[in-house]
Amino acid sequence: MNIRLFQPEDYDKVFQLWKEVFPENTDSSYSRKDVERFLERNPETSFVALDENENIIGAVLAGHDGRRGYIYHLGIREGFRSSGIGKKLVQAALDVFGRLGIRKAQLSVFDSNVSAKEFYKKLGFKVRTELNVLTVDILK
Ligand SMILES: CC(C)(COP(=O)(O)OP(=O)(O)OC[C@H]1O[C@@H](n2cnc3c(N)ncnc32)[C@H](O)[C@@H]1OP(=O)(O)O)[C@@H](O)C(=O)NCCC(=O)NCCS
Repeated sequence: MNIRLFQPEDYDKVFQLWKEVFPENTDSSYSRKDVERFLERNPETSFVALDENENIIGAVLAGHDGRRGYIYHLGIREGFRSSGIGKKLVQAALDVFGRLGIRKAQLSVFDSNVSAKEFYKKLGFKVRTELNVLTVDILK
């Protein structure tokens, strides 16, 4: 297993992975246009994991705004889980954040996604129960 930067050319394969891993939660904000724009703004913080045949078996979108790091849509293909790939992808993004002087990273996870919360807790993340995520639709 190898990890490298997520390049715009990886989009089709990563989107296929996301459809498998997040069948109900790959909305328009994960469209090619939006992901390419994200990678253009954050060229060095998102990663893919490859098996020995160079197939993409995991991916994470990560970026920062100069102050805080954000992690999105970490997914590992079934059959490849529980072998440290998720941890390596997140750690790769956190390492870059650290080198850039970003002190803190955060992410949102569905409250029902107990296994993702347990995974992130293992990596040192803390669940902030006193905070809520608020969103608004700008473009319909
Ligand atoms: C959550 C997910 C990314 C974890 O990736 P993974 O490659 O299977 O996890 P890893 O093998 O890197 O695990 C890292 C550590 O977390 C622990 N861990 C992983 N899943 C866990 C779980 N469900 N409960 C408790 N601990 C867990 C591992 O035991 C390991 O601990 P260790 O370092 O002490 O050995 C993966 O299961 C996945 O793709 N899930 C579906 C998509 C998803 O929910 N993504 C998160 C969206 S926010």
